[in-house]
Amino acid sequence: MSLPFNIAIDGHSSCGKSTIAKNIAAKYNMCYVDTGAMYRAFTLYCMRSEIIKDKKIDIKRLTSSLDSIEVDFQFDSKRSISSTFLNNENVESIIRGIEVSNNVSIIAQLDIVRKKLVMVQRSIGKDGNVVMDGRDIGSKVFPDAGIKFFITARIDVRAKRRYEQMREYTSNILFKDILENLQKRDEQDTSRILNPLVKVKDSIVLDNSDLSLNEQNQFIYNTINTKINS
Ligand code: DC
Repeated sequence: MSLPFNIAIDGHSSCGKSTIAKNIAAKYNMCYVDTGAMYRAFTLYCMRSEIIKDKKIDIKRLTSSLDSIEVDFQFDSKRSISSTFLNNENVESIIRGIEVSNNVSIIAQLDIVRKKLVMVQRSIGKDGNVVMDGRDIGSKVFPDAGIKFFITARIDVRAKRRYEQMREYTSNILFKDILENLQKRDEQDTSRILNPLVKVKDSIVLDNSDLSLNEQNQFIYNTINTKINS
């Protein structure tokens, strides 16, 4: 089965958007795109080339480098995982680190970066059957998505989840740093001028703070099944 429509999943950082999107992709045979990973890979490029240094951006160099930054995904069907590639290098683990997390909001608020990535995202979803997670998917990338979910959870719950996720990559991490980083990113994501995180009118809101994975999946799948059968 291949769905003619796209599914947009927006919401706060670390509320399980990517888990939901991956589950949907596996169940309905859709293509999953993690747009946060695209902004993270862009940020890594800028950090390595010192286009961003001490939180300051060299816009001139960024503009002239735009065409040399290529971000894509490769799916390992044996392990059922998708990895993010930056100019053909697998950067999946490094882009989840705290250094990239601390810089990504600065890069993600730039007009030239958003224009380029939104264009790439729209072209991936032009034929439907894509489930994409991010902050501006329902509002900007696919305003005509078949279903728009807005996922949220309390910040203490989200910080705990992110902490546990990051501990898989490194033991060199403190809970309070994660909490602080999330607070900052919530503020930046919702208050930035370009494509801020917003709850669009036609979105379906899900607060999963107190839901089990199973309960959450039931809600999501019921919503999709209703749409498919409508
Ligand atoms: O989903 P994430 O935490 O991996 O996203 C990383 C950052 O990228 C986050 O601070 C918000 C930003 N982002 C964005 O501005 N627009 C998107 N569509 C996806 C992510």
